[in-house]
Parts: sequence; structure tokens; C-alpha cells
Amino acid sequence: MEVPKLSKTFRGKVKVRGDKSISHRVIVLSGLSEGNTKIKIYNLSSADDVKRTANILSELGVEIKEAKGCVEVRCKGLYLNSPQSVLYAGNSGTTARIFSAILSAQKFPSVLDGDESLRKRPMGRVVKPLRELGAKIWGKNNGDHLPLIFDGIGKFGGGKNFLLSVPSAQVKTALLFANFWSDEPIKVKEPSPSRDHTERILPIFSVNVKKDEDGFIFCEGKPISPGVFNVPGDISSASFLLALGVLGENSEVEVYDVLLNPTRTGFIQALKSMGGDVEFCVEREEGGEQVGKVVAKSSFLKAKEFKGEIIPLMIDEVPILSFVAVFSDGVFCVRDAKELRVKETDRIHAICHNLRALGIDVEEYEDGFSFEGLGRDAAKKLKNEYYLKSFGDHRIAMSIFVLGCIIDGKIFVDDDIKSVVSVSYPEFFSDVKSLSVKV
Ligand code: S3P
Repeated sequence: MEVPKLSKTFRGKVKVRGDKSISHRVIVLSGLSEGNTKIKIYNLSSADDVKRTANILSELGVEIKEAKGCVEVRCKGLYLNSPQSVLYAGNSGTTARIFSAILSAQKFPSVLDGDESLRKRPMGRVVKPLRELGAKIWGKNNGDHLPLIFDGIGKFGGGKNFLLSVPSAQVKTALLFANFWSDEPIKVKEPSPSRDHTERILPIFSVNVKKDEDGFIFCEGKPISPGVFNVPGDISSASFLLALGVLGENSEVEVYDVLLNPTRTGFIQALKSMGGDVEFCVEREEGGEQVGKVVAKSSFLKAKEFKGEIIPLMIDEVPILSFVAVFSDGVFCVRDAKELRVKETDRIHAICHNLRALGIDVEEYEDGFSFEGLGRDAAKKLKNEYYLKSFGDHRIAMSIFVLGCIIDGKIFVDDDIKSVVSVSYPEFFSDVKSLSVKV
């Protein structure tokens, strides 16, 4: 399909739907909470990935209902019902990793599967530590790939410390949740910080998160529902709108009621360090998270190198940041981002492929890439027809769409990007349209 031309100017204010990472966590913790009470969740993400998590919980006997302006979940407790069929995580890595812990701890056998992309993603990073806790898990390539079979053991062994080799919030979350089914602490430490939503949401569910003298974290207590929870807007979804604010002509985009957790604002920091006219303001704390607004205005950008600890803080935004960098002056470079190779697609390959299709000379490394930006006139320089590929990846698809809005030329993309995008941000096209100014 051809990426439609909307406008080159984007102005206005948008509130995006609830953050996907927090939505997974709140709905799972609600189902696992003790006490047969209900929780009302406001602004839950409408992403397909979150629907996968909700469907799996339903298959396991958790009652989830759409109610007036919210989603209502009836708390079931730590032991769920045996499912009737194979549990399907679709495209969602977070669902697969978190449920690997939950299913290992149940008292029945189960099977967990995913789509073609998820079947290729590494599961060994969560299966290995769970096995050390006694979990009985079988799967292809010694359990590194879905489908996985679990024979629930009812309780974990505990008393183990896990030092992760890569920062991964999904693995950290699975191991922290494993504490619910263990009498001894299960401790985890990362080589550098990843998103910390689990550490922030557990106390809201009356679970204490502790850190020992060696920096390992673990938790104590069983989840209890707080009754209501409001999910702040998804900062990863917002990044595509902020990119339009920065790249558009005479543009100014404000995203409000959005998550501003410092472990998720790497993209904003990166844009600012490239000279982007982007400001954010934390207005309140809600559900343990910082929430506020971000304003992005048309900017001239200087390319930069990004590596080290900022990478996990913007890991999902590297595709859109790289497309934004096409419009910068100088050499843009990303290193220490090998994790991108095992996302929904190999995102290093996907970024390099698409930039080359634009005629840009890209150098690819195992852990990143570099290229020279086309500068402030990039929109005019890119005046031909370009055939790009989403690789079935939502964040690559949205990055391509943003580029298509800004350049003078035409962009064609292979996939049905509408269904691809709904993996994380079904409102993407309507939100972009609401900002586009007719000239
Ligand atoms: C997520 C963690 C990150 C991120 C993913 C969501 C989460 O993955 O890329 O989109 O919700 O915990 P890793 O844990 O693999 O780094």
C-alpha cells in the first residue's frame, strides 16, 4: 500500500491510550490478587498484545468484563483454573515471559504458543532460571522456543539469586512474580536498569519490594487489589506523535496524561540531546508512576552516537529515533543494542534495510548501525518512490508511516500495516489524523 499523504504540519493535543507494559502488569496482578474482590482498571491499553494477556487470564478462569469507561477484573488468587486449550500469546513477548512463570507454578499442565514471530524469540532467558527453581518446562531447542509445555509444580524452590546477562524487564518481572509461589526469596539483579514498572506497581498491590546489600531485588507478600487503577498514557506510542511534532513544518504536538517514568524517557532525552525542541513536565504521581505532558516542536537536529545505559531506556524507540535521525546533520550511531535483534523482528536488520531502500549508506554492526543523516533538507531530498518493508513489526510500520508523512516523495509499504500497528497502538492512524493540519 501507499502511505497516504496527510499534511506536513502537525499541531494539537492528544491523550494516548494506556501504557502497554503497565497494562499487562495491572491485569495480571488483578487476576492473581487474593480475596475474590473486583478491580476497576481505567485507560487499559487496547493493544492486541494486552488482549492476548487478558484472553489467557480468561482461559485460566479470571473474569474480565468491559464496564462503564473501564475494565473490571474479578480477583481469583494465585491458583487459576486448568485451561481447555492451548494458551496463545500472539505476538506478545511480555505475555509469553510472564506466563512462563505463572504456568510453571500452577497445579495443572498447560501449553503456551505464539505467532510466527514470537516462536522465533528466545525463551531460554526465562525458562532456564525457572527450571533452576524446579519448573518442569519442555519446548523446542531445549525450551528456548515456543510452543512450551508446562507441568505445573504448585510451588517454586526459591532461595536463589539470578544475575541477568542482559537487562530485561520481562525476565525480571517473571522472576519477581515467581516469589508469590515460593517460601524462600527469589532474587534478581540486572547488569543495568530496565523499565521498572513491576517494582513500582507491586506496592500498589500491597506487595513489598526489597533490595539486599548486593543489589538483588525480591518481593514479599501476595497481591491484593487496590480496587481501582488508572493506566497512564503509553510513552512509546506517544513517541511517534512527538516525532511528527519535531519533523513537521511549523508543528507543535502535545501529548498529555502520559507516562514519564525515567526508565522510559530515553527517546525524549535522546531527541533533546540532538537539539530537538522537546519539553516534558511531570505533573503528578499516579499508581507509583510519574505522569505529565510532553510538547515537541519543529526542530533542527544534530546527529549523535547513542550507546550504553541509555539504550534499555529507549529500546522500543530506536526504530523511530533512527528514522528521525535521517533528518539530522552528521553521523548517527546506535551501539550496545544487540537486544534489537531478538525483538518482534530483527530490528537492526529492519532499520538498515529500510534506510538503504531510501538510498542511505548504512553501516551495520552486530549490536547497532551508523549512517550520515541527510540534514534539514531531507524531506526535499527524498522526492522519489520508495518501497519499504514493515517486516510485520508494529514499531517499524509506524516509523515508516511517520516518514511517509514528512517526505516529498512517495512511500510504499508491503504489509497491511493497519493490523500490524494494532499490536501496540490501534488508535495510531486516528491520533495522527487528529494532529494533521489541512493546508
Ligand atoms: C517490556 C520489556 C522490554 C520491551 C518490551 C516490553 C515489558 O522487553 O522491549 O516491548 O513490558 O516488560 P525486554 O524485557 O525483552 O527488554
